[in-house]
Parts: sequence; C-alpha cells; structure tokens
Amino acid sequence: AIERTLSIIKPNAVAKDAIGAILGRFETAGLKIVAARMLHMSREQASAFYAIHQGKPFFDELVDFMISGPVMVQVLEGEDAVAKNREIMGATNPAQAAPGTIRADFADSFTENAAHGSDSPDNAAVEIAFFFPEGVCPRTR
Ligand code: CMP
Repeated sequence: AIERTLSIIKPNAVAKDAIGAILGRFETAGLKIVAARMLHMSREQASAFYAIHQGKPFFDELVDFMISGPVMVQVLEGEDAVAKNREIMGATNPAQAAPGTIRADFADSFTENAAHGSDSPDNAAVEIAFFFPEGVCPRTR
C-alpha cells in the first residue's frame, strides 16, 4: 500500500553534509519527498518526540545529541514506505547495519546513527503530525 513515513536526518549526518546523499537514496528507491523542513530542536521538543524512550539508559544521551545541531525532517511517501525506508537506513545499531545502508555509511555510533525512521504506519502518522501539524500535500506526479 502507498504509505507515508517520517524521516529525520540526524545532526551528525547534517554536519557531514550528507543531506543530499541521503535524500538521493530515498528518491532513487522510489520514495517521494512530500514535505521537508530543517530545524534545530529544543530540549522539550526532542524529549517529547522520543517520549516513548523516557527512562531508558540511552535517553539523556539521545536527547543531548538530537539538540546538538540542526536536523532535516521529511515525510516520505511511496509503496511500503515505512519498511522501505527502514531497509534503506539499515539496522538501528550501525554495527549491525548491512553494507550500503545509510547507517553503515554515515553513522558514528548507536546514538549518532545518522537517520531516524518511523517503525510503523501508526507511529508514522503520529510523528508526521508532530513535525507537520499543518498537514502534508499529496504528490500527484
Ligand atoms: P532512532 O530510530 O532515532 O530511535 C531511538 C534512538 O535511540 C535510536 O535511533 C538510536 O539512535 C538511539 N539509541 C541509542 N542507544 C540505543 C539502544 N541501546 N537501543 C535502541 N536505541 C538506542
């Protein structure tokens, strides 16, 4: 089915000027960029976005990292967009990411793993509304 997913290019990948390379991989794989915005998150915003991880041992480090610089958030649309995006990103732990994936090529650590992608269509809807409350235009071509 045609789905949408929320993608974040994390501060380490932005810092190494990998935005274009990463967006190119999505487009090459048939995922259309239907919304995009660059922002530097506040601590409150990052904590709210990752609220599901509150209390976990990596939470503080994750939030500190996510507010260390600007991020590029996008909505990707396409056939099986959630799974396709996760396949292109590779495993969350970059040590386990397959060769040629975004995390294998651009991650610096488990926390600084270059990209985030929604893990289900339901979470994608929540995450898209978090960053794009005004809504997202459908792509017609
Ligand atoms: P992300 O897809 O952004 O979702 C939560 C993030 O927490 C994850 O990618 C990792 O960057 C980070 N993280 C750090 N340590 C861990 C861990 N042990 N397990 C899961 N996520 C972790």
